[in-house]
Amino acid sequence: MGQVRDFIAGLPKAELHLHIEGTLEPELKFELAARNGLELPYANVEEMRAAYTFDSLPSFLRIYYEGMEVLRTEPDFYDLAMAYLRKAAEQNVRYAEIFFDPQAHTSRGVPFDVVVRGLRRALMDAHARLGVRAQLIMCFLRDFQAEYAMATLLESLPYKEWIVGVGLDSDEHGNPPRKFAAVYERARQEGYLLTMHCDVDQDDAVEHIRQAVEEIGVDRIDHGVNLLEDTGLVEEVMKRGMGLTCCPISNGFVTPTMKAEAIRKLIDLGVRVTINSDDPAYFSGYVQENLEALQEALQLTPGELADLERNAFEIAWLPRHLKDAYLAEIDAYAS
Ligand code: HPA
Ligand code: ZN
Repeated sequence: MGQVRDFIAGLPKAELHLHIEGTLEPELKFELAARNGLELPYANVEEMRAAYTFDSLPSFLRIYYEGMEVLRTEPDFYDLAMAYLRKAAEQNVRYAEIFFDPQAHTSRGVPFDVVVRGLRRALMDAHARLGVRAQLIMCFLRDFQAEYAMATLLESLPYKEWIVGVGLDSDEHGNPPRKFAAVYERARQEGYLLTMHCDVDQDDAVEHIRQAVEEIGVDRIDHGVNLLEDTGLVEEVMKRGMGLTCCPISNGFVTPTMKAEAIRKLIDLGVRVTINSDDPAYFSGYVQENLEALQEALQLTPGELADLERNAFEIAWLPRHLKDAYLAEIDAYAS
C-alpha cells in the first residue's frame, strides 16, 4: 500500500468535482468567524468535527450550509480558495474545476461579485505561485426556484470570462433536471459548458440521469453512478463520450457504501469515470485519499489509476493542447 500511495501521490491529477464551500476546514471556519465577529455554536475544532455526522444528502447539506455563514467578504472567499489550492498543489493536482454556490451566499446578503472576485483572485495567484491551473463552475441550488437560478445566471454574465460552465447541486428530492431546462438552454446560448449533479441512490436517480442527458444535453454528469442501472443509457453516454465525476468517500456518507463495485463496472464498460473529492473538509478526504480508498477496495493497478486521471484530463473543460500537455505528463510519469 505504501508503494501504491506513493504512486498516487506522484501521479499528475485533475479534480473535476469539488465544491469550494466543501473545502472549508474547521480551523479556517474559526479563523473567519473571529475575523467577522461571529459566534460559532461549537467550542472548538474537535467539537465541530464531532458534529459532522450525516448519513444522507439532506443531513449533509444542513451542516454544509450552516458552515458557510462565516464567509462574508472578498478576502474570506480568497482565503478559502487559496487554502484549497495549496492543498491541491501538495497532492499534485495539476488542474481543478471548482464549483461554487453563489446562491448560498446571495441568499444571505453577500453580493455575487464579492464571491466571484475573491475566488477568481485566488485562482490567478495559485496559478502564478503554485503552478496549479483552475477554473470556476457556477452551481445553481436546485431546491430554490428556477427563476432564482435564471436571475443568478443573468447576474453572472459580466463575469462570463471567469466562469467556464454551470452545474446544479443541493437537494435532488423533487428537483429534477427538467425544472432547470430553460436556465440550461440560456446558459448554453451564453457559451457556458453544462454539467449537473445526479446524486447517488436518490429517488428517480435513473430518470434524472436520462433527463440530464437526453433533455438537457449536459456535457457531463456529477456522480451519476446509477447510470449502471440502464444499459441503453450507458450506451448513449458512451456514444457521446461523456464522463462521470465520481466521489467514492462522499458516496459512503450519503449511502451505505462507497459504491466501489458499481464504479468498477462502469470502468469495465468503458465509461469515462473520474475520481474526485466533492466536499473534502466534511468527508475527510481530498483526491489523494479518494484514489487510495478506491484502489484499496478494487485493487486497482498503477495502470488503472493512471487511466482514471487520463479520463479526467480527457473530459476536462480545457483546450486540446492543454489536455495533451497534461496527458503527456501522465505518460512520462507512468512509463
Ligand atoms: N450533492 C449535492 N449538493 C451538494 C453536494 C453534493 O455532492 N456537495 C455540495 N453540495
Ligand atoms: Zn458534489
